[in-house]
Amino acid sequence: MARFRGRRRSELEQGIPLLYSLFWISPMFDSLRRQRVKPGTIIFREGEIGDCAYVIERGAVEISALRQGESVVLARLGQSDLFGEMALIDDKPRSATARALDAARLIVISRSQVTRKMDAADPLIRLFLRVILRRLRTTTSLIDNTVQNARALVGDATLDDTGVRTLRKQAIELLDQEQRLEEALRRGEFEVFLQPIVSLKSGYPAGFEAVLRWRQPDGNVLEPDAFLGLAEEMGLVERLGKLVLERSCAALSVLPGDGGGNGVPEAPFFVSLNLSARQLAQAGVVEDFVAAIDGAGVDPSRLLVEVTEGALMEDPEVAARVLWRLKSHGLRVGVDDFGTGYSSLSYLQRFPVDVLKVDRSFVTALPTSAGSRKIVRAVTRLAQELDMAVVAEGVEHDDELALVCYFGFGLCQGFLFAPPLPLPEAVATVGRRFFDAPAAPQPERVAP
Ligand code: CMP
Ligand code: CA
Ligand code: CA
Repeated sequence: MARFRGRRRSELEQGIPLLYSLFWISPMFDSLRRQRVKPGTIIFREGEIGDCAYVIERGAVEISALRQGESVVLARLGQSDLFGEMALIDDKPRSATARALDAARLIVISRSQVTRKMDAADPLIRLFLRVILRRLRTTTSLIDNTVQNARALVGDATLDDTGVRTLRKQAIELLDQEQRLEEALRRGEFEVFLQPIVSLKSGYPAGFEAVLRWRQPDGNVLEPDAFLGLAEEMGLVERLGKLVLERSCAALSVLPGDGGGNGVPEAPFFVSLNLSARQLAQAGVVEDFVAAIDGAGVDPSRLLVEVTEGALMEDPEVAARVLWRLKSHGLRVGVDDFGTGYSSLSYLQRFPVDVLKVDRSFVTALPTSAGSRKIVRAVTRLAQELDMAVVAEGVEHDDELALVCYFGFGLCQGFLFAPPLPLPEAVATVGRRFFDAPAAPQPERVAP
């Protein structure tokens, strides 16, 4: 379940499962917090407050507890065993003392990491965990009180069956990815790329869509679908959203505000950015926009907020409130991936929509599907009636371009012209004519 497309397990690990299971924690987990302990070190004592759990990466650890006034060894744990988890689950003091038997290396899982996952987990699962733990504690104290020779209970606590192994591997992998994301944010590895949105009237760029990219230290550049889901789960989306917003405003302040030299002087360059359902629901999102726009001193009408139909419909009331507020501050609103969601057209009235971005699937089908052509014709007419601009997304081939021109799109973007580019390269496209626009101008609005 590698969520980072850029990371793949080595062939050795894939091809030799036995070897892999022996060294189940591969060196690829290089951003985890680790602790090395000398033989005899007390890692924590019974009764202490616990702030982390551990997985043994190397070495052995003894778990012991006082039973009827005597220290009793409860378990000897080895490589890949987990301990210290109980105190994190129910916030009780450490139930036992942990001591390193030899030089050990431990992966440290902090309380905040666990709490975040617990809070995000299904309540039933949390309930099960609590109940099981309470039963364990009750049983332990019952046995402690009734059995004279507690030593008889010393057992192998490893419980290391395949299911546990798989779960643990997934959990550690996820922790590693989360830590990577956090470090990437700290190190500034996230960048905002800009994809030109070209005017079909002039052939020059009219604006740009800002998209997030993660440039990893090895030079690999990841797209949002490789990391955004996890970032949302981790609550990092607010920070990432602010980053995109700030960079978009910064881009606006370097892009000519008078449409300089692109053949459409009446239309200043705009930048559009994507807002997810989670971001729409975030407290203070409108204030963030206002602050960023004021801070950069840019004209808010040059900023376009793209929201998918799905995001609009997740909580239409919240979406309407936020979008109308953004609109009242002068921003523009676009419906992203138009035609792919399951929503009724009535939302075009309910939300302050300025732009329809027709999904690439319709554009791709234009040359071959009469049905798509009919839908696209209807959509461009609808947009015209409602006084909205229409953008064709994902234009990759000349025949698609010819058809989007024919059907009266005002704007289009796609790999035929340019992929998302780093800011300096995007700015360099400002005076570039991407294609010879058709002689007879199509009915269109140049800018959103
Ligand atoms: P915690 O209570 O946080 O700290 C002590 C740890 O010892 C506990 O979590 C478990 O990880 C471990 N532990 C407690 N009781 C046993 C047992 N009977 N066998 C093995 N490990 C135990
Ligand atoms: Ca988009
Ligand atoms: Ca899109």
